[in-house]
Amino acid sequence: MAERVFCVDFGTAYTKVALRRDPTADSTLLACAGADLDFWVPTVVTVDRCGAEPVVEFGHIAADRTAGGGIDRYTNFKRDLFTNPAPTAGAPSAPPLDALLGSDEFAALAAKYHVPPYQVAALRSMVGAARTLIAAPGERAVSLDATKQANAAKLAYHFFAWLRKQVLAACEKLGKTGLRFEDFPVRVAVPSLVPGDVADQPGCKLFRESLHRAGWPLHTERPFVAEPESNAVGVLTGATNALNVDRDKMLLGQMFGRGPLNTVVKGDKNHQTYRALVIDVGAFTTDLSSLWLDTGGNAFLFGTDGGFTVQQKSVARGVNNLDADVLAALSQAKREHLETMPRKDFINFQRAAYTDLNGIRPTGTGLGVIGGEGDRAAIDPCIAAFGSRLVDEVKAFCAEVKPGNMQELILTGGGANIPAVRNALIVAAQAHGGEFIRVHAPVARREKAGGPQIDGELKENFARGGSALGGASIYFETSYH
Ligand SMILES: Nc1ncnc2c1ncn2[C@@H]1O[C@H](COP(=O)(O)OP(=O)(O)OP(=O)(O)O)[C@@H](O)[C@H]1O
Ligand SMILES: [Mg+2]
Repeated sequence: MAERVFCVDFGTAYTKVALRRDPTADSTLLACAGADLDFWVPTVVTVDRCGAEPVVEFGHIAADRTAGGGIDRYTNFKRDLFTNPAPTAGAPSAPPLDALLGSDEFAALAAKYHVPPYQVAALRSMVGAARTLIAAPGERAVSLDATKQANAAKLAYHFFAWLRKQVLAACEKLGKTGLRFEDFPVRVAVPSLVPGDVADQPGCKLFRESLHRAGWPLHTERPFVAEPESNAVGVLTGATNALNVDRDKMLLGQMFGRGPLNTVVKGDKNHQTYRALVIDVGAFTTDLSSLWLDTGGNAFLFGTDGGFTVQQKSVARGVNNLDADVLAALSQAKREHLETMPRKDFINFQRAAYTDLNGIRPTGTGLGVIGGEGDRAAIDPCIAAFGSRLVDEVKAFCAEVKPGNMQELILTGGGANIPAVRNALIVAAQAHGGEFIRVHAPVARREKAGGPQIDGELKENFARGGSALGGASIYFETSYH
């Protein structure tokens, strides 16, 4: 059991960090220094090799640097880390030495001789690093994906070492709490790309070593949590943690706010199955997930009786694709201006051009308004095409997953802020997923009424930070069940 935890949502584009400082405190997002929107940092690393010594930058500073001329810029390393490399044709799936070191038998032998797990992890990583020196003939044919994955693990190590400093600095700003934040364990929200336990994915094995080397103490029982599940838990609990302190048991009813899930887990013969359909429109990917539960009409205890059946699909389409289409549709002068502006300003453009529809007016450029009335004819078709592509994915996904007789729809991710996209997705999910008791989604500041009904309005911290907030929940501490 961990009474206090950090949860990191390792986003492809933005990383978000939440904290639960004690079991009855609500989970909160941490304000990382330099973040415009106080809780997220771009998942970007740059290495500047122009000087005598390479200079490595992270987060916001790295995000605003342009690659080229001696500067390498790394984005997307989360995706590379979680790609499952296919074995190269004709080559053994793993070099025999790796297979030995990674085997359950080896782990059991190490335990028998009291070799601590971190030394086993260090040995595996050392052998990986020395591959070129000790590889047997034929073993050098490591697949490109495997090389990319190993590089991604290295980048993840550097990024998480830097992130740890930011997070501990942010905790210091919380004032005199008397808490030893450096001892708090971490749980990380990761994609659920293969059936079974997320922690068993090859990417997680490498990631575990990166986190360990970066100094993060991992949560002993549940270091990884599936992103869709933590996202749904964050949204459905509103990041609250409620505990019966005398019995050390979580008060699920209070946490789920007496919503539909609460009715089902209490045991209701008329409502035996529950499904939350989660659509997370991110920067690089759109993640579709179904969290399904069958109680057979009996009272259900999470942990003791199991948990959700999670089915997920990641589609390689996100707001970055929309950005590319929009830039290509605008005039050359506007495109060049947008391409060179700092990321902070580009985010204002996204919000103004896709969500508020009023555009930005950069001073001293002579370009007038970008993304406003005059550009709607160029931008609106891009938004519609992006939405319609995602609608097709939602329909295909819903056709393959079981509905429940109590259902909620949850729309998160920066892209769910775009009203035209969000509305199209709600309509598609309702047409192909049945009736939803509640729809949780963000609503834009200046949005006019008239779209599909949204009865669970999500504020930005939930729309973007739901996975981090949910991962920090006591819901994931089985000893409180
Ligand atoms: N109101 C808005 N209107 C339009 N775009 C927005 C808005 N708010 C955020 N975005 C953009 O949505 C994108 C997705 O943000 P999000 O934080 O969901 O990414 P992520 O979680 O890192 O991505 P992924 O889920 O692919 O790993 C970003 O490009 C962000 O700038
Ligand atoms: Mg995301």
